[in-house]
This record gives sequence, C-alpha cells and structure tokens, in this order.
Amino acid sequence: MIKKAILPVAGLGTRFLPASKSIPKEMVTVVDRPAIEYVVKEAVAAGIEQIILVTHSSKASIENYFDRNFELETTLEQKKKYDLLDAITNIVPAHVSIVSVRQPQPLGLGHAVLCAKEIVGNEPFAVLLPDVLVKDDAADNDLAKMIARFNATNASQIMVEAVPDHMVDQYGIVDVAAIPAVAESVAMQGIVEKPKLGTAPSNLSVVGRYVLPAKIMQLLENTPKGAGNEIQLTDAIAALQASEVVEAYRMQGQTFDCGSKLGYLKAVLHYGATHPSLGEDFKAMIRELEL
Ligand code: G1P
Repeated sequence: MIKKAILPVAGLGTRFLPASKSIPKEMVTVVDRPAIEYVVKEAVAAGIEQIILVTHSSKASIENYFDRNFELETTLEQKKKYDLLDAITNIVPAHVSIVSVRQPQPLGLGHAVLCAKEIVGNEPFAVLLPDVLVKDDAADNDLAKMIARFNATNASQIMVEAVPDHMVDQYGIVDVAAIPAVAESVAMQGIVEKPKLGTAPSNLSVVGRYVLPAKIMQLLENTPKGAGNEIQLTDAIAALQASEVVEAYRMQGQTFDCGSKLGYLKAVLHYGATHPSLGEDFKAMIRELEL
C-alpha cells in the first residue's frame, strides 16, 4: 500500500517573483487557500496518510499552515466563530501526518526526493510537485488510479499529458510505443528531461505526479548531474526503466502550472468559477468585465 507522499517545496520560485521574494510560491492563494493545500488534498483523496515536505529554511510558513495555531483557535472559540474554527482546524484529516525534512542545497528535484530517503524507508511512495495543480473531481482521482495500478502490477507510474510540440523542451518527455487512452497506463521505452525541440520522443509530458518504488532512492544516489546541472528524478527513472517496467499514465484531470504567472491566473479563474459558495458570483463578475 502506498501511504507516503513526498512534496518537494524547497525551490525558490524565481518564476513567481516578486511575490515569492518573501512568500513561498506554494503559499500564494488560489481563491481562499494556499496552492499547496490543493496538492495535499489531492494526495489525501488518493489514500496518502503521510505527507513529507522536502523544504527550505525560508519556507516555515508552509509547516505553520498545516500545524495547529493555539492562539487563533482560542480567539475564534471565544468569539464563537465556529465556522472559521472548523476551517482552520480541519485542513487535513486527523489520520494524516505532515512531516518535513530540509534540502540543504539546491541540487535538483532528484536530490530533493533523495532527502526523504530515511523517512520513506523501504516502502513505495508517491511524489507530487506542488507547482502543478491537478483539478480532477472524480471520486478516484488520477493519483488514486495510478496507486491502484501500481498495487495491481508493481509497475511504477508516471503521470503524463499531451503538450504542444513547441513546449516539449520545458518538461520531462516519455517515449511510448503507442499513446495511451485517457486514464490508461502503458509501458514506457524511455524518458528524457527537457529534450531540445525536434528531438523529443513524443509530446507526452511529465506532469509532476509519480508512484515509485523505494529502489529509486539507490538509483538517485548514483545519478550524476544532468539537465540544468542538477540531479534529475527523470534520469533515475530512466535507470529504473532499464531494469523493470515503468508505465506512463495519461491523466484525465486538468493541470494548472501555478509556478508561472499565467498558469496561476488560469487556476484562480477555474477554481474560483467552481467554488461552492463564491463560484456563481465570481462568474457573474467575469461576465461583467469590459475587456
Ligand atoms: C520538473 C521535472 C520535469 C517535469 C516538470 C513538471 O521540472 O523535472 O520532468 O515535466 O517538473 O512541472 P521543473 O519544472 O522543476 O523544471
């Protein structure tokens, strides 16, 4: 069973400056809550019970957000603001724990995942990159489907979606014999990090959701620096794929890259428009905009 998920949150978020100068990019709000909460909720909905934040000294506000705040709780209780009290105390269910470990140097995504090696131990685990929000309201979300597939087959799962050909150099790209149908997994022949335009094996990009075996940690320890002079998770997955089946899972949900300003604005529009209490008024406001 996959019960642990690694969320690498140590990145400095240069694509989101100036906001990320003093606010972790993961704490920028999408409607009424920080972006990271959506990612944690996605993991919890897929059955994850321990969230492992791989973090940085400048990002304590992420840990604070998921911690209790006794002073605030007491004040809200005294003022009988029970709705707000509920909203701040039940961000994650009681059976879910949030732990953190530091990434002492910015050596890449592969290195960030490796920082969680001791906490993960001998169990398979999920990785969720918090820049990308996956909006998928199905009862069994994409990550849950990947976990179910891993449990049934033991094959690692890499979530992918098609991107326009001119964008392949921004992502990990998988090599598959045939493009899978939506919500299906197929064996990968290879995976490459940010290929140059015209050299990509497909236009299926790695979204930032992975289900991996504990063995990937040993492979990461032996992965040299790759693209961008960083230790790449993609390169360790390529090494894993050389010795066992790794599958590309084609997602059904919709992605929003909240690491980029336009992607973030798009997320605010979509999450705002479907918000249970604000959605209708928000849509009316958008219709009134004179653009
Ligand atoms: C990382 C991964 C890449 C993946 C991307 C998804 O890249 O290395 O394979 O496609 O996330 O957002 P980054 O965006 O951190 O450069």
